Amino acid sequence: MDDDAHRIETRAIHAGQEPDEETGALMTPIHANSTYKQDAPGEHRGYEYSRTGNPTRTDLEDNLAALEGGEYGRCFSSGMGAINTVLNLLEAGDHVVAGDDVYGGTHRIFTQVYEKYDLEFDFVDTTDHDAVEGAMRESTELVWVETPTNPLMNVNDIDALAAIAHEYDALCAVDNTFATPYLQRPLEHGADIVSHSLTKYLGGHSDVVGGALVVDDEELDEDIGFYQNSVGATPGPFDCFLVLRGTKTLPVRMDRHCDNARALAEWLDDHEAVEDVFYPGLEDHPQHELASAQMDDFGGMLSFELDGTLEEASTVVEETEVFTLAESLGGVESLIEQPAAMTHAAIPREERLAAGLTDGLVRVSVGIEHIDDMKADLQQAFDAALE
Ligand SMILES: Cc1ncc(COP(=O)(O)O)c(C=O)c1O
Repeated sequence: MDDDAHRIETRAIHAGQEPDEETGALMTPIHANSTYKQDAPGEHRGYEYSRTGNPTRTDLEDNLAALEGGEYGRCFSSGMGAINTVLNLLEAGDHVVAGDDVYGGTHRIFTQVYEKYDLEFDFVDTTDHDAVEGAMRESTELVWVETPTNPLMNVNDIDALAAIAHEYDALCAVDNTFATPYLQRPLEHGADIVSHSLTKYLGGHSDVVGGALVVDDEELDEDIGFYQNSVGATPGPFDCFLVLRGTKTLPVRMDRHCDNARALAEWLDDHEAVEDVFYPGLEDHPQHELASAQMDDFGGMLSFELDGTLEEASTVVEETEVFTLAESLGGVESLIEQPAAMTHAAIPREERLAAGLTDGLVRVSVGIEHIDDMKADLQQAFDAALE
C-alpha cells in the first residue's frame, strides 16, 4: 500500500502493516523471538538478532515514520531511551540549548547524566528567539524543545527555532509527545529529529512504556540506529504490538481529547476558584495564534492555578475521582497531578519558579470520559478544598 498517498487517519491504521503473506493475518504478529536462522554465516533475511531489529518493531517504526511524515523511525524502550539516543549523537564539549520548561526527566538526564560527560546545557525561554540566539555558541550542536511544553503549555515556533539551529549547523529536535503527529508534524516545520514518549498518546491506554525518534535524513538515521543497537534500550515485541494497537485509534482519541480539553479549559477559565488556565486553545493564551497555525488542534493537556493556597491545590488533586492522581498523561482516562511535587520534582525549585512553574500548579491530562462528569468531579474537589 502506498502510505504517502493516504491521509493520517488511514496511515494510522495501515502504514507499515501489510497482512501477513503466508497466513493473511491482518494484525502484525508479536514476534517473540531473540534470534533468526541464517542461510549461511552472515547471510540473513533482514533480521539477525532482536536488539538490532525485530519484525514487530519494524512495523511500528514504519508506522510512526509515516504518521510523522518522515522517512525513518526508530523505537526505544522508553521516551527517555529515545532522548538518551539523541544525546549519544553529541561529543564531549558540545553545547545544547534547551527550553527552560522541558519535562523534568529531560532536565535530569541533561544536567545529572550528560553534564558528567562534558556536554554543556543552557536552558532558555524558547518562545523568546532573542534569548535563544543569545545562548547559541560555536559549539552548539543541538536545540531541544517541546511544544506545547510540559506543564506550562507554552507553544514554540518550530520554523523559527529550526532556522536558528541551522544557522549554527546545529540539529533541531522537537519532543512531539504532547501534540502527537495527528496535531503537529515538526519535520514539516524544519525540525531534524522528532522525539516521542510512546507511553503517552501514541500508546494511549496507560499500559506500555516506549519511545521513538523519527528523522528524514538517512545518515542521521544510520547514526541513531548505531546507538540504538549499541546501547540496547530497545522495546520488546509485546510493547511494540501494544503501541501499534494504540496508533490505529490515535485520530479518534485525539479528537475527543481535544474537544474535552477545550471545553474544560473554557469552564476553568470562567470559574471563580481558578486564577489562571494554561491551554493554547484559549484565545488569550500568549501563543494562541502560533498554535492555530502550527497545530491542527490544541491537544488534551492543560494546567491551571487555583485562586488559593498550595494546600488547597493539593487537596483538589487528592479529592478528584474521575481524574486519577497519577504521573503520566495521554491515556484514555483523565489524570491529575501537581508537577512541582511529582513529574517536575527533579528540577531545582528556583529554576522551576523562574520558568513560571509554581508549587501550586495543577496539570491535567484530559481523557475521553464524558465532559460533564469531569466538570462535576473537579467542582466537588474544589468544594472540598475551598470549603
Ligand atoms: C514530554 C515528555 N517527553 C518525554 C518523556 C519521557 O518519556 P518516558 O516516560 O516514556 O520515558 C515524558 C514523560 O512524562 C514527557 O512528558
